[in-house]
Amino acid sequence: MTHPVSPRVVLVGAMGAGKTTVAELLATSWGVAARDTDHDVEAAAGKPISEIFVDDGEQHFRALERAAVATALAEHDGVLALGGGAVLAEETRTLLADHAVVFLRVGLSDAVKRVGLGVGRPLLLGNVRSRIKTLLDERTAVYEEVATHVVDTDGRTPAEVAAEIEELL
Ligand code: S3P
Repeated sequence: MTHPVSPRVVLVGAMGAGKTTVAELLATSWGVAARDTDHDVEAAAGKPISEIFVDDGEQHFRALERAAVATALAEHDGVLALGGGAVLAEETRTLLADHAVVFLRVGLSDAVKRVGLGVGRPLLLGNVRSRIKTLLDERTAVYEEVATHVVDTDGRTPAEVAAEIEELL
């Protein structure tokens, strides 16, 4: 790692991959802090993501997200989970190039089961299954591009996923 401070690992992947839960498990196991860029964006905006989308639009959300990711990559030395769409920004992909990045892979069925009705996730409004299918189709290649490691999550508990990441790193 070329940075003085750097996350031990950055978790990327679609909604329902388990990024936030796995980040917390890994952080507990390693005795470090877990951080989630969705929470940083909500703190910066002073409101939940669903309200940012409605009040200010997705583009504004993405600008806040790019800034939150850049800050977290520069100052967080624990485990970092990115929002599912963060890797769509070229600026973010460039920053990720010198970090350990794990892509938590999830298939359509497991993702749908895990997000439930998609409450609080504005991109899933409407038909959750068809929205997730579109997002997986559009983004899987990007997750693979930024990842240094890929871990399958289908049919596995967050604890099993976290244990595999610990073996890998
Ligand atoms: C999004 C994923 C969400 C959140 C926002 C947009 C996306 O994060 O950042 O609703 O574009 O995939 P999670 O992947 O943590 O649910």
